[in-house]
Amino acid sequence: MEQMLKSALERIAPSARSDVPPFMVMDVMAAAARLEAAGIHVVHMEVGQPAAPAPATALAAARAALGGRIAYTESLGIGSLRARIARHYGERYGVDVDPARVIVTTGSSAAFMLAFLSLFEPGERVAFANPGYPPYRHILKALGCEPVLIETGAATRWALDPTALVAAHRAQALAGVLVASPANPTGTMMTGAALGGLIAAAEDAGIRFISDEIYHGLDYAFAAVTAAALSASAVVINSFSKYFCMTGWRIGWMVVPEPLVRPIERLQQNLAISVPTLSQIAAEAAFDGIAEMEEVKHGYEANRRILVEGLPRAGLASFLPADGAFYLYADVSRFTNDSHDFARRMLAEAHVAATPGVDFDPTNGHKFIRFCYAGSQEDARAAVERVGRWLGQR
Ligand SMILES: Cc1ncc(COP(=O)(O)O)c(C=O)c1O
Repeated sequence: MEQMLKSALERIAPSARSDVPPFMVMDVMAAAARLEAAGIHVVHMEVGQPAAPAPATALAAARAALGGRIAYTESLGIGSLRARIARHYGERYGVDVDPARVIVTTGSSAAFMLAFLSLFEPGERVAFANPGYPPYRHILKALGCEPVLIETGAATRWALDPTALVAAHRAQALAGVLVASPANPTGTMMTGAALGGLIAAAEDAGIRFISDEIYHGLDYAFAAVTAAALSASAVVINSFSKYFCMTGWRIGWMVVPEPLVRPIERLQQNLAISVPTLSQIAAEAAFDGIAEMEEVKHGYEANRRILVEGLPRAGLASFLPADGAFYLYADVSRFTNDSHDFARRMLAEAHVAATPGVDFDPTNGHKFIRFCYAGSQEDARAAVERVGRWLGQR
């Protein structure tokens, strides 16, 4: 019997492509939950999601829709939602986007999969800035493509620049490049000129350009520029998760060049049939809740100010330009060479949960931790106070 079980288990050995790394923030969350179960109050700054709910307009639309039939929709998304998203480009950026180029997706996560599948062959190389959001490289690896990390630093405000991109392409050809501005984990942004320069360099070299714009709307230093305004051939990815506080609704979108619409439609038909209908209905109504979301954004701005002013006094004086999103990426190399251990001890001793940089950066992540300030001002103040007291005692 034991032998049978052993050989059955051997037969279901998982594929090499499924061997992607876990997200270490989950370890932090699990440790925080254990402390809370023991009655300890933890300040949560580890998970990258808003504390606020979806706009009231979205909730009302979903409630009303629940009375009726929730059926499949067209694979590209409900027509009126696609049109509403296209209109958003006119309203927010003054850019004309044809609704036919808008595709609704199950969060931006599904959009990455659809973009990579429709743009790249197995084995092709796709570049990202390091540090960066880990699922980019893990999804690509699972699809049989090769992620290429390009180091960034203070000289380019922690963004990819044409020189680094072209050098990587010369070393070994790149099929694509993906950038996020505002970025995760750094919170840094590219100016319109920097983004335009990078897109032009990519297009000159025949490198496909993907722009992850999930943190658009959450810009404090200057206004984010959409790649849709700069190029008709860029693939633009966005989501209702962050600005619209709809992480669990799993709804996002992409704006793609016309020749990709039908291939992505065929992929989505086969991979998902369609995107959750209730979430599509709520998402369309979310655009009527922008005033409410701007209030939420003002809360992030206040939190950001508390951290930017308070953390240096608390002992963390070095962090990247916190231009947007709701992240602050702090250099802890004065205290440790092991950010995972630092985050573990900060949680255990100061009861502040943050994410070690090693999740986002295999090269220098051991020197950084990421604070997410999407919670309350009370949390932001408590984090500064607790970190200060903790570092002062060391
Ligand atoms: C940079 C970035 N892109 C994409 C995502 C995925 O978000 P979703 O699938 O909820 O749209 C996240 C989530 O944290 C992110 O930080």
